[in-house]
Parts: sequence; structure tokens; C-alpha cells
Amino acid sequence: MPSSTHSSSHGSSPESSSAHTVSRRPDVLVVGGGVIGLVTAWRVAQRGLVTAVVDPEPGGGAAQVAAGMLAAVTELHYGEQTLLALNLASARRYPEFAAELTDVTGHDLGYRRCGTLAVALDADDRAHLRELHALQQRSGLESEWLTGRECRRLEPMLAPGVRGGLRVDGDHQIDPRRLTHALVAACERAGVVFHRVWADRLTVGHGERATGVVTADGTALEAGQVVLAGGSLSGRLEGVPDAVLPPVRPVKGQVLRLKMPRTHGPLLNRTVRAVVRGNPVYLVPRESGELVVGATSEELGWDTTVTAGGVYELLRDAHELVPGITELPLTETRAGLRPGSPDNAPMLGPTGLDGLLLAAGHYRNGVLLTPVTGDAMAHALTTGELPDEARPFTPRRFDAVPALSERSA
Ligand code: GLY
Repeated sequence: MPSSTHSSSHGSSPESSSAHTVSRRPDVLVVGGGVIGLVTAWRVAQRGLVTAVVDPEPGGGAAQVAAGMLAAVTELHYGEQTLLALNLASARRYPEFAAELTDVTGHDLGYRRCGTLAVALDADDRAHLRELHALQQRSGLESEWLTGRECRRLEPMLAPGVRGGLRVDGDHQIDPRRLTHALVAACERAGVVFHRVWADRLTVGHGERATGVVTADGTALEAGQVVLAGGSLSGRLEGVPDAVLPPVRPVKGQVLRLKMPRTHGPLLNRTVRAVVRGNPVYLVPRESGELVVGATSEELGWDTTVTAGGVYELLRDAHELVPGITELPLTETRAGLRPGSPDNAPMLGPTGLDGLLLAAGHYRNGVLLTPVTGDAMAHALTTGELPDEARPFTPRRFDAVPALSERSA
């Protein structure tokens, strides 16, 4: 039974029903209030559409765990050139995006143009980094090869065993927790309505069009268009037809937070990362004194347990890079779920179901892709089309390919 507070179309007569709908029914309902849902809501509300977000805890989600590296260049992977273009577009937008968000809300986002140093500890790591450097150069990206000595000159706390590294001055960082707080505030200022409850089920009306959601307390929320932006949960909303259910899976990441002393100058000046025995590890120093150490990558379904093994491996690998970290207070251990997709790239824009759009599957790049996602989704929600830069990321790329027999029939 829908509650009276949020019900948009359950009045006692057709007249009162439609009057109620006009005042309550948003143009856009965003399911999920993590960074991606929030930026979508903010940007679309700025364009004058009446917008609502449904999430029990807006500002939660994977960004509460994420380190906030804006690492388009150091996280380049073979086969991800298309994604690289979107990552770079978003990285370029970050200074203006962060300035606007700070302007609107007064929040400091911890946006720090500090650069990144990716280092190698042994001959295998060095060969791997050399390959990455070559790939970056072929892709027209800026990075500089440094000897071990040059790395230590930049970052004196690095282990003496560091054998070389890649300096990437264009890969920065932001504090994702501050970012989400600011986005909630920006949404509120832009008039976005928050429904602090779980969305249980998508409603699909006659004519096969998404019309809203039913929430966990039984409220029916109607909207002109629905955006599914539920992070790793995006593939689980009841009522979404199988053909358009996004192929998103949770990929667990355990992350630690340590406290750096303020007394003797910074422990690290920039993000330092490496692949140690095949495991990526990164250390992200914030101006606040927080040092974020991440992250494991585990395909364990919905498990978010922080394990002794996960913490041990992160500390062991981080200690090999920067031995001095063992002196620091360990202030937090936490696990989050990255929303993985089959090609590691997000799904943005209209689906095969009228009225349902996706902003999901951002995997390792949710924080980096926040500015470009907001712009692309606002464009799609107001024009029905994705902008050129986001077209390769249509969810329709995963539509089932008809079997040969069906195609020739
Ligand atoms: N982008 C960092 C991570 O996913 O761990």
C-alpha cells in the first residue's frame, strides 16, 4: 500500500489524482544516490527538470571507500583505449567541475593536483612498467621514465630497492567522501527531492515504458524517466526486464586509512603506486594528513568482510614501497564493491526499455568519470541522445546478438 507522503497518483478521484501527480511527479527519478546518481541528478536539475533521487543513504556507496585517484594515465590497460578517451575527457573537466561544485556549496573537495609516481621494485615490475610507458606513449599520453634514484629524489621515503618508475604529473586526486557530501548539498540547492528509502521494484506501464519505482515502504514513485544508477546493485532491481538488466557485478576492494604526522613535512608528496608480486597497491596522501592505502580486487560476490589476509597483504606491499608507514596509526579498514562490467567500461544512456536509462558499471573509474557522466546523462535525459564522447558506452552494446539462424530467417 503506497504511503500518502510520497504517493503521486493514488488520490480518491481521477481529478485529485491527476492534480496530485502534476505537483509531485518528477521528470527524472534517479535510483541510487552514490556519486554517479548524485551527479546525474544535479546536472539534470540544473537544466530545469524536476528531479528526485531514491536511496536510503544518499552519498553512501563505493565512493565512501574509494581512494579518489584520478588516474586516467597510470591506470591505462591494454584493450581499454575507448575507455581512455572518456577517462581523459573527464579528467580534463575536473578543475572546472570541482571549482563549480565548491562555488555552489562552499565545500572543499580535497582536489589535489599532486601527480602520481608508479614505481617498480624488481626486474619483472620494471619490465611491466616499461610496457605501460610504451603504451602511454603510443596513446599520446604524458609520462616520464625515472631511475630509482630519481624516484627517491622526488619521494625520499621510498624504499631503497625501488628500481625505476613512471612520473605522471597529470594524474591527480580528490577526496571522494567530500565529493559525495558536496554533491548532496548541490542537489539540495538545485531542488532535487530525496526519498531516503530503498527502491524495491521498477514499474513498467502499458506500452512497455518504465514509469517509476515502488519503494521498500510500498510507496509508488512515478516519473517521466527513470535512471538506474545503483552501483554494484544496478543489476538487481526487481521488475527490470531481463533484456535490459545491466550486466553489473560486485568486485570487492579492501582499503586502509592511516594518519600521517604533521610535524616533519609530508611522508609523500604525490600518489605512489606499484604492482607488487602481481597485486596492485597504491598510497594516496591527502592534505588532511590521511593516507589511503588500497586496494584488493576480489570476485567474491556481495561479501564486504575486511579480512586479516587483505589487510596484511596491503600493509606488506605498501611497506615494501614506503617502509615508514609501519609507524603510522591505522585509523580505518573498510571494504567496498566496485560495479564491474563485462568490458570494464560504464553503461550510459537509454536502454531498450523506453523511459529507462542507465548510469552504471563504472568499475574502477567511478570517481574519475563523475564529471563526464553528469554531463552525458543530462544531455541524454534532455535530448534522448548521448553526446558523441559517450556514444560508445551505450548499454545497447550488450544487447543480445541474434543467433545466426535468427538473422538469416
Ligand atoms: N581505481 C582504483 C581501484 O579501483 O582500486
